[in-house]
Amino acid sequence: MTKYNKIIAIDGHSSTGKSTFAKEIAKKYGLIYIDTGALYRGVTYYAKTNGLISSTGSIDTEKLQSLLTLNNLNFEFKLENGNRYLYLNNNNIEEQIRGLEIANLVSKVAAIQFVRDFIDSILKKIGEKGGVIMDGRDIGTVVFPNADLKIFMTADAKIRAQRRYQEIIEKGDTANFQEVLNNILERDHLDETRSNAPLKRAKDAILLDNSNMTKEDQDKWIEKIIKERWG
Ligand code: DC
Repeated sequence: MTKYNKIIAIDGHSSTGKSTFAKEIAKKYGLIYIDTGALYRGVTYYAKTNGLISSTGSIDTEKLQSLLTLNNLNFEFKLENGNRYLYLNNNNIEEQIRGLEIANLVSKVAAIQFVRDFIDSILKKIGEKGGVIMDGRDIGTVVFPNADLKIFMTADAKIRAQRRYQEIIEKGDTANFQEVLNNILERDHLDETRSNAPLKRAKDAILLDNSNMTKEDQDKWIEKIIKERWG
């Protein structure tokens, strides 16, 4: 078996650079990159646009479950100009799922077990032949417990907040450091304490704490691991 038909699982805290890292590994080793958080955002977007989430944030779980069971939601990742975009029933919803409204609702939707089952079955189908790298919160623990390589990414919360703050400022937007930090701490708490598939490091996941690492350090780190494992 070569590295090209492996499954690589990257889980970890938010704002640790999982998706950038996973995308680069995918490019370098010819793997398909799947951003699993996009699917949680996609289901949230679907629920919101179909009036299943009220203005106070309460979710009509009964209706959502029956609509998901109908199986008329077709999520696909389509490749365009080297980027993969999430499509729902042939509509590109990438921009909509990245907005603040969805970001603020998604963790509640991601805590629902039938939503997780729905997404897990999509992910298992995509990954059944291997050759994929997925990033998320439960890929190495729940979706692919037998993944060939598992990485758990973390970094000090203040450092993550500083990076996120910098990104916002560089985009020309305004931000308050303390608010950014609080948001990161809250997301960590929600991810780690939910009862369904909480974020945790799989026993066999390699820890990558990039608090004090440069991008180059991180690239060397993964190159060494892949070389040692698969030559
Ligand atoms: O990685 P992200 O911020 O796009 O994830 C969006 C949400 O989905 C976030 O609340 C965590 C959740 N998620 C999850 O529960 N399990 C995954 N495998 C991926 C994301």
